[in-house]
Amino acid sequence: LSLSRRSFLGGMTVALAGTRLPAATHELILAPQSIKAHLAGYDVSMLGFNGGLPGPEVRMRQGQTARITLDNRLEEGALVHWHGLRVPNRMDGVNVLTQDVVIPGDSYRYQFGVPDAGTYWYHSHYLSYDQVSRGLFGAFIVEEQNAPAVDHDIVVQFFDVLLDQSGQYDEAFNPAHFATEGRIGNTVTALVFNGTGKTVKRGDRLRLRLINPSIDRVYRVGLDGLIGKIVALDGMPLAHPRTLEPILLAPGQRCDVIGDATGPIRFDDSFGEQTLSLGEIAVSGSREPAKAPITALPANRMPAPKDPGQTAELVLQGGAGSASHNGTGTWALNDVSGLPRRPFLSAAQGTTARISIRNETGFPHVMHLHGHHFWELDAAGEAGPYRDSTYLDTGETRDILVVLDNPGSWMLHCHMLSHQADGMATWIRVG
Ligand code: C2O
Ligand code: CU
Repeated sequence: LSLSRRSFLGGMTVALAGTRLPAATHELILAPQSIKAHLAGYDVSMLGFNGGLPGPEVRMRQGQTARITLDNRLEEGALVHWHGLRVPNRMDGVNVLTQDVVIPGDSYRYQFGVPDAGTYWYHSHYLSYDQVSRGLFGAFIVEEQNAPAVDHDIVVQFFDVLLDQSGQYDEAFNPAHFATEGRIGNTVTALVFNGTGKTVKRGDRLRLRLINPSIDRVYRVGLDGLIGKIVALDGMPLAHPRTLEPILLAPGQRCDVIGDATGPIRFDDSFGEQTLSLGEIAVSGSREPAKAPITALPANRMPAPKDPGQTAELVLQGGAGSASHNGTGTWALNDVSGLPRRPFLSAAQGTTARISIRNETGFPHVMHLHGHHFWELDAAGEAGPYRDSTYLDTGETRDILVVLDNPGSWMLHCHMLSHQADGMATWIRVG
């Protein structure tokens, strides 16, 4: 197999010699580098994978194997984490826990299968509060073996960035950001990518894959101009698609919507006091809408939970004005700030664990577990959506149930990346 470096860069699928079947392997290079991005009318010096912000959309078929080379063209370290994908531990891209940081000029080969279909994403996991806020992220889509028929499959990433007076990335370091709601940008954009390249008509059926790669900003995404259903959260299909209403999308979270366009599709955010317009997808022309009902996506294979063999409590503490904790940061988990020497939880492979997460801080958080999805349990202990990141408002408690079937050391941290950087991180050891 000989491919030029150039042809790799597009993230193409490599056909196996002598077959016309879909290739079993998907090869590409991801090269983080300095770029100029066009944001809010400015040419902003940012970072990007393969020259773009967002990075290239990685799109694979369920069951394929990814072979992705990280080619570090930054003047600093780099690592890539495959958020939500249940990869082998050594492919997880986490500094200290799973691999060494890739130094400038070096490369690293990631290889893993993608057993779960859905909407995932990849991002830097080295100084991520900084590198992700500068643009080191992209969508990672795994198509179902039997994908539902739609006219357009569109990825929408809601990204915010803090620009200074001159329209450049704000380099000022403000410790207050870390200890409060995070580093919230003053410029918000919906980065829309329609892989079909076709214009959307009224009546077309769309699959929208919404991703929040913003480091700290929570959105409540309203959609206008679409009649449809919410069909997946954090990549995983909902057994019963939900009525489309404004979607809470915390950093790192995803949501899939399938629906029929009734007009231009407008996104807005009503999380804060004022409603912000986030962007739109234009429509032109019209057609008879499809009559087929919107049904549940084919389920991914989920492990079967048993009675919890282990239970644990995780208390979210700290933030501006709170007492200090062991460790160096402002935020803490169970009285420790920063990655503890010992795991928060250690379990044999296959253990079902129930973790009760309690937010005692004055701010919301979104807790993300690597290498696994978990069920959010409702107040009655019934299993809700199967997610990889769970949002907790101030004072809120949520129990999650997880089958720890993926051996290794896995991070569990707040995905408000300023909070992670300022101490809100721990880890789980499986096997
Ligand atoms: Cu999306 Cu530990 O990260
Ligand atoms: Cu947080």
